[in-house]
Amino acid sequence: MKHFINLKDIKTDDLKKILNDAKRRKSKRKNFNTLDVDKGAPLKGKILIQMFEKPSLRTRLSFYLAIRQLGGGTITLRSNELHLGKGGESLADTAKILSTYGDGFMLRTDSDKKISEFIKYIKIPLINGLSPSSHPTQVLSDIFTVEEIKKKPISKLNICWIGDSNNVLNSLIAASVKFSFKLNIGCPKNYKPKKFILDWLNQNRKTINIFDDPKKAVINADVIFSDKVISLNDKVNVKSKTKAFKKFFIDDKLLNLAPKSIFLHCLPRGKEVSEKVFLGKKSHVWQQAYNRVHVQKSILMYCFDKLR
Ligand code: CP
Ligand code: NVA
Repeated sequence: MKHFINLKDIKTDDLKKILNDAKRRKSKRKNFNTLDVDKGAPLKGKILIQMFEKPSLRTRLSFYLAIRQLGGGTITLRSNELHLGKGGESLADTAKILSTYGDGFMLRTDSDKKISEFIKYIKIPLINGLSPSSHPTQVLSDIFTVEEIKKKPISKLNICWIGDSNNVLNSLIAASVKFSFKLNIGCPKNYKPKKFILDWLNQNRKTINIFDDPKKAVINADVIFSDKVISLNDKVNVKSKTKAFKKFFIDDKLLNLAPKSIFLHCLPRGKEVSEKVFLGKKSHVWQQAYNRVHVQKSILMYCFDKLR
């Protein structure tokens, strides 16, 4: 069994295998109903336990459909209804019980430390469904979407991120090393990626370009990504952070500086992008959101050692 915690810790070969499996599975589902099970029901009898310490729509639903389409099932726990933390039950005991009752555990958490603690005790695959420092299932799925739309390996494309240096960007940066793509980031000077991820880039001898002018960042972009300026549970001064990002607003004018670009956004959105861009022809956000089902199926296959 394997965990799926951070892209930077997963072999590139395995990440590519996951994408290939997702492509194969997606192409075979053309005439399937939502809950029809893939041939061979590879995860028949398996249950994925999901727990969210923060809100979620897409991750919750896509993992539900993913495990069901592979022949398994899922149960979602509400963290506030468990003993964990409050009733005196230790995380170690919780992890052991999860491992006894379940076959896999998907956790969305406010604490990276909690993930590292769970790993010590859990005996079933642990999947990071978003943490303060990364959102790996989102970004792997986004690479799938980029390659699907552009019909090219992402290594041949110029990727641009306009927005906050948050968990999604950290995973995109990790992916830029794993998949060898060019990455331009447009963000205010005071909101650059954190030292730990830049240090990791250096260790991997990878250069990315960081601009405090969005117009420079989008030049030659094939894909422009963005995300909310204020993330879930982001403990910041909303007013001053919003002000700092004012000139990073994504509108037609900015997008037109990169004529061949498409627009992607993991959702939920804030005020960082115009309605016209978000709902416009260059935007593929709905396809991006649904692809998470396909890619997460293959992530589950990887975790359960079922990938060919
Ligand atoms: N993109 C994403 O992870 O969405 P949710 O927060 O709705 O799961
Ligand atoms: N960066 C966002 C992503 C939401 C899916 C957040 O952490 O809230």
